[in-house]
Amino acid sequence: MSQKTYHIEIWGCQMNVADAAAAARRLESLGYTEAPDPADADLVLLETCCVREKPEHKIYSRLGELRPFQQARPEMRLGVCGCMAQKEGRALIKNATARVDLVIGPRRLYRLPELLEALERTGEPQIDVEMQENPEEVGEQNYAIYRRQGALKAFVNIIEGCNYRCAYCIVPAVRGKFTSRQPAAIVEEVRRLVDAGIKEVNLLGQSVLAYGRDQARAFDIVHLFTLLHDIDGLERIRFTTNHPLEVTDRIIDAVAEMPKVMEHFHMPIQAGDDGLLSAMKRGYSVARYEDVLANIRAHIPSVSVTSDIIIGFPGETEEIFERCMETYARLDFDQQFMFVYSARPGTPAASMPDQIPQRVKVARMIRMVEQQNSLSAARNTAQAGVIFEVLVDGPSTRDPEKDAGHARNDKALVFTAPAADRPRRGDLVQVVAEEGHLWGFSGRMQT
Ligand code: 5AD
Ligand code: SF4
Repeated sequence: MSQKTYHIEIWGCQMNVADAAAAARRLESLGYTEAPDPADADLVLLETCCVREKPEHKIYSRLGELRPFQQARPEMRLGVCGCMAQKEGRALIKNATARVDLVIGPRRLYRLPELLEALERTGEPQIDVEMQENPEEVGEQNYAIYRRQGALKAFVNIIEGCNYRCAYCIVPAVRGKFTSRQPAAIVEEVRRLVDAGIKEVNLLGQSVLAYGRDQARAFDIVHLFTLLHDIDGLERIRFTTNHPLEVTDRIIDAVAEMPKVMEHFHMPIQAGDDGLLSAMKRGYSVARYEDVLANIRAHIPSVSVTSDIIIGFPGETEEIFERCMETYARLDFDQQFMFVYSARPGTPAASMPDQIPQRVKVARMIRMVEQQNSLSAARNTAQAGVIFEVLVDGPSTRDPEKDAGHARNDKALVFTAPAADRPRRGDLVQVVAEEGHLWGFSGRMQT
């Protein structure tokens, strides 16, 4: 029999990228190779998200698009993994127009080989959306090293699930409670990634700063930073996402003092008004958030801080929205990721009164994007002249005469270098930012 092939599509967040990598590794250990085109693959997996409604619709339409391939080659297997698999379960098989053979929740991904085997043996679709809370069981099986040829950066999941109960959020329902991986296992994984050429790891979780809490605080993120810091060849350690209530002085000091830890906090505020924050059950006020932000900026001068916000949460009047805009202008984030509120069935916010009409949400979103664009551009413009250490990605895709990379605070730089002295991918170079833009900086390499 010829070798089987797989194709994985990622329709979700960075945690899905890490999960897709783990799935790919598992399939490769079964002898599968990657097919660039789903039309040719024996197994197509979709890594999915259910945080908002729209991506869910997209998955159903994507399954519809894959149907003709499956009709042409009935032996093609189709699987859905990730958060939407967990949320929908068997309903996915019923509602999809294509034949879905596998539905696997994020905590059960390690069972992929077994489930595939059962599928082949019985011809029956396999569904596994059990929720495990026991870290021993979740264990290391879910994680595995995988790297695309020549990759410089890798995502590493360090904590699964979330104990918060934000009123709009479906994540705790589909990913369960905080479950931290053991530090030794993470160190081992990162060592192997570094051996394979990785220079930057992004430690992932819904709230990475809660790392270790479910393990009676036997370890925390600062311990993990310290362990990873000792790995020769690893240049940068990044961490996302951060709940503002978890940011302690100990963490700020660690980020300030450890050279490999990147000076970037992605710390979603979600709303810029106390009434909304309280309705969202975020557990802090605007003033409290501002204290944390001021503390970060005071101790880490070159830090960049980015945020997520939700626009059009129930009860968001025009007046409240304007207050949010004022808050965001005052907080002056380097960048904000904006999401139109999407009611998720089963969450408290979905049944709150005063839901906002879609056209109002979209109009507010456009105003917010405009405000944030001018804030981000102004912030970057003000930093012209600063010298950044840049991890080089290689020639810029837009302008191959120039090179591109990211600073330690995650800002993008596109820069010129002498033709005879172009840096190589993976090099660390000093770049002077000559001009700030919305997207980052253009600059010149220091020689
Ligand atoms: N509607 C809109 N945005 C949401 N997010 C989470 N749940 C919802 C929802 N129901 C946003 C939050 C979170 C980001 C990943 O997605 O801003 O930080
Ligand atoms: Fe969802 Fe809130 Fe947990 Fe983030 S902190 S994953 S928004 S419940």
